[in-house]
Amino acid sequence: MIESIINRVSCGRLEAPAPSKEHLDLMFKAALRAPDHKGLKPWEYIVFEGEEALSRFGEYLLQASLKDNPDLDEAKQEKIKNKPHRAPMVVVAVAKANNNPKVPHVEEILSAGAGVQNLILGAYDLGYGAYWRTGSLAFNDHMKQPLSLDFEDTIIGFIYLGTPSVELKSKPVPEVDDFVRWG
Ligand SMILES: Cc1cc2nc3c(=O)[nH]c(=O)nc-3n(C[C@H](O)[C@H](O)[C@H](O)COP(=O)(O)O)c2cc1C
Repeated sequence: MIESIINRVSCGRLEAPAPSKEHLDLMFKAALRAPDHKGLKPWEYIVFEGEEALSRFGEYLLQASLKDNPDLDEAKQEKIKNKPHRAPMVVVAVAKANNNPKVPHVEEILSAGAGVQNLILGAYDLGYGAYWRTGSLAFNDHMKQPLSLDFEDTIIGFIYLGTPSVELKSKPVPEVDDFVRWG
């Protein structure tokens, strides 16, 4: 397990098959074990799988972009609409806002981030590829209504999932001493 954590790499070149239902359940179980102040479970994961769902998600991205910039040219519109088709599955990861007086929203975002890390570690461990993306559209409030989110919720990532279509590149692990000191 520690080896998967150390060796995990992202993969942006993804093809079918997407994680099976059984594997996806395991990955989400891992995500739902993220540390969580006061047990608020401030998480929501919205899964888009297959051409129809990915096109629908692409349309959400496009409409949100157009609300901010109605003059987007055709080429840019196409590019935005097609973003989700870079993988057979995209999971929108959300930090829900519970407005608990003892738990500031930043802690909910941290907890959801830990959940996403568990999700992508699970994907890697099960032999899938994953790529965590955000970009301006993750922070575009016009994405919230089509995704049925509350205004105070935070989209923390679009997680692209599938089977790597290229060999995964291994990455050097940074030197521990460069990042750790004993106080
Ligand atoms: C919150 C968050 C948002 C990210 N957003 C993007 C993104 O929009 N585009 C991108 O190319 N990489 C993004 N990344 C980085 C990649 O997911 C990936 O971690 C990075 O390319 C390093 O690769 P590695 O995970 O194999 O070390 C993001 C990472 C995090 C944690």
